Formats: sequence, C-alpha cells, structure tokens
Amino acid sequence: MAKILVMNGPNLNLLGKRETDIYGMASLAEIEKSVSARAKALKCKVEFFQSNSEGALIDRLHAAMGKVDGVVINAAGLTHTSVSLRDAIAAVAPLPVIEVHLSNVYARTERFRHKSLLAPVCRGVIAGFGPLGYLLGLEAAVEAAKKTKQG
Ligand code: DQA
Repeated sequence: MAKILVMNGPNLNLLGKRETDIYGMASLAEIEKSVSARAKALKCKVEFFQSNSEGALIDRLHAAMGKVDGVVINAAGLTHTSVSLRDAIAAVAPLPVIEVHLSNVYARTERFRHKSLLAPVCRGVIAGFGPLGYLLGLEAAVEAAKKTKQG
C-alpha cells in the first residue's frame, strides 16, 4: 500500500480565513479530510504536515526518505523563493514530489508568482483548481510511486 505525505507551507494553516477571494473558504483541516477520504478510496495511506518554517519543511522531507512513496507539496510563498527547499526535493530523488497550488499562480497579477524554483525538480505541477488540486496531486503521487517502484 503506497504511503503519501501531503505537505503545506507558510500561511496555509490560515486557509478559510486568509484571502478567501483567492484561496477559498475551505480550511486546511477540511482539505485534509477530503484527501483522507480519497486516500481510502485509492487504498493508500496518507500523512499530513504543515509548517510556517522552511527548515521544518526541509527536515520533514529528509525524514520522509525511504519512509513514504510520494509527496504532495504546496510550498506556498517558498515556491518562489526557496533554493534550499528545491535542493531538498532534488536530494530525496527519486521520491516523486508533486507541486500543488490552490490558485493558478500563472494567472496572478504579481509576476513573482509566475516563477517556481521547485517545479524543475518536481514530477509535475497542479495549479488553479482549488482544493481539488490536492486530490489530483494525491492521484498523481500514487501513480508516480507505482512507476518509481517498477523502476
Ligand atoms: C499558493 C500560491 C503562492 O503564490 C502563495 O504564496 C501561497 C499559496 C497557492 O496555493 O495558490 O501562499 O501556493
């Protein structure tokens, strides 16, 4: 049974309260509940981690090495700034990492959101579908994990 780690970065603990016109009304707990339900249907195990700290996210990724089969990550603002998180994702290869964003970062007016430092070292990117992105990310991670296991 595949085990998938779903990680969320800075400020995503405030989902449902924070800039709801962009990120919607669903809280992180509600999103995680729907991911757990989908994991049950997909017959995979899922665990969750959220931190506002870059180092804690990197430490959690390192700890996931050899323990999980895939990762879904919404790194929030760190997506656009963190060389260290990118290096951590590259370091845990071939562990498949799927980048997820609630908003379509490429359609946002701030140009700094159009660049992801993580995307080149991730298996793929899902953006713009709100909470559904996490479910799509979970399915993508499970499929990628199967391929990685097959070698
Ligand atoms: C986000 C997009 C990022 O640009 C932003 O910093 C976030 C959330 C998203 O899910 O749309 O905090 O990752």
